[in-house]
Amino acid sequence: MTKVKTQYSCSACGSVSPKWLGQCTDCGAWNSLTEIAISKTPNSGRWQGYAGASEASIIALPQISTTQTERLSTGLEELDRVLGGGLVMGSVILIGGDPGIGKSTLLLQALAHLPEPDKALYVTGEESLQQVSLRAKRLGVGQMPLKLLAETQVETIIALATTLKPSVMVIDSIQTIFTQLIQSAPGSVSQVRESAALLVRFAKQSGISLYLVGHVNKDGAIAGPRVLEHMVDTVLYFEGEKESRFRIVRAIKNRFGAVNELGIFAMTDKGLREVNNPSAIFLSRTAKPSSGTIVLVSWEGSRPLLLEIQALVDDSHGVPRRVTVGYDHNRLALLLAVLHRHSGITMHQMDVFLNVVGGVKVTETGADLAIVVAVLTSFRDKILDKGTVVFGEIGLGGELRPVPGGQERIIEAAKHGFKRAIVPKGNAPRQNPEGMEVFAVETLKEALSKLD
Ligand code: TYD
Ligand code: MG
Repeated sequence: MTKVKTQYSCSACGSVSPKWLGQCTDCGAWNSLTEIAISKTPNSGRWQGYAGASEASIIALPQISTTQTERLSTGLEELDRVLGGGLVMGSVILIGGDPGIGKSTLLLQALAHLPEPDKALYVTGEESLQQVSLRAKRLGVGQMPLKLLAETQVETIIALATTLKPSVMVIDSIQTIFTQLIQSAPGSVSQVRESAALLVRFAKQSGISLYLVGHVNKDGAIAGPRVLEHMVDTVLYFEGEKESRFRIVRAIKNRFGAVNELGIFAMTDKGLREVNNPSAIFLSRTAKPSSGTIVLVSWEGSRPLLLEIQALVDDSHGVPRRVTVGYDHNRLALLLAVLHRHSGITMHQMDVFLNVVGGVKVTETGADLAIVVAVLTSFRDKILDKGTVVFGEIGLGGELRPVPGGQERIIEAAKHGFKRAIVPKGNAPRQNPEGMEVFAVETLKEALSKLD
């Protein structure tokens, strides 16, 4: 007999309380306690002779036979890339993103282009079957023999999927799905978690690949997909601005491929199109260069990407502000401190605004040098030559440290016609690419001197 009991868990720190409280007693966060269900097995204290436990299930590592993971192509090269080279059979993938960014569109396309689309089941809890069919027509896949189901109860979905035996299933979205086991409303943390757990268990037992769609809500997504990240094999998030034509899908976690891998798509009137040569799409094409901009060769997953970093430094009226879009503002504060200590340039009476063009999020330390250069050129109102690229990590001692993918970054920049690169000494190429001058430097100071 399994008894279901409810408890309350803090969505900020995870501590558990038997009663609902307005404030978490552990971390002090307000209104963060949400209901969770726990099931209790009656004999959980006595392990010996526990039903189902047998030594035969313990196996020595070399005896485990591994077959190559079987992968299916989704028909979208960029999606295959973020998945680590195609969809792994029996894996569970969470796709998160703002409402309206293109999750349903991407998955409908991915299902329709599978080698056997009749083995795909698309479960919609949000839209009616007519809406899905209209979208499919718009995407030009209206005649594909996909299986559709409009249903929100987990038990029914699993029962139907057990008879249908699809090879790939999409749940759109997990926030609309509920299980009978729990009383709380669909979309609540406990419903999302329990329904997802049932679906994941079903997928693992039956070997089907499962996509879960999750909406990210505006306050950091605690009640949304974040609570599911540890349950699934792969987590993909949509990045970028909805206003822009481009859609970026990033792998945050992947048991079958590189993390931070980016897939880049363009939203067209016929759905998402893959962008095959994305390196330079985020560079602005203005004829007149302005101060405070620099091109960074960033490293995303397994390939280089040219990104434009813009900074604006202005007199502060009051407490100086550090505002960033697409970049960590703490890292900016750290870099400003290094700039002060090791180059004597102070910005404590200035506001500093920083923007990564195109809505891309930059997290790698290889962007450090570009950030400092952008800030400094805005501060000095200096316009850099358009053909310059930089990359490199800055240490607290003011030294420039090498970063992964140095050669590939330099080659990529040369391919796009850049003439000058300032890079860490450890990333110096054995031979300069044709038409490009590479300055390999050891310190931040030395790097800044190359700008003059
Ligand atoms: P959708 O996939 O419904 O977003 P989500 O599932 O993440 O909420 O995408 C909806 C947006 O995409 C909507 O604003 C319309 C746009 N769109 C196109 O521009 N072209 C298309 O062919 C389709 C199907 C949608
Ligand atoms: Mg949708």
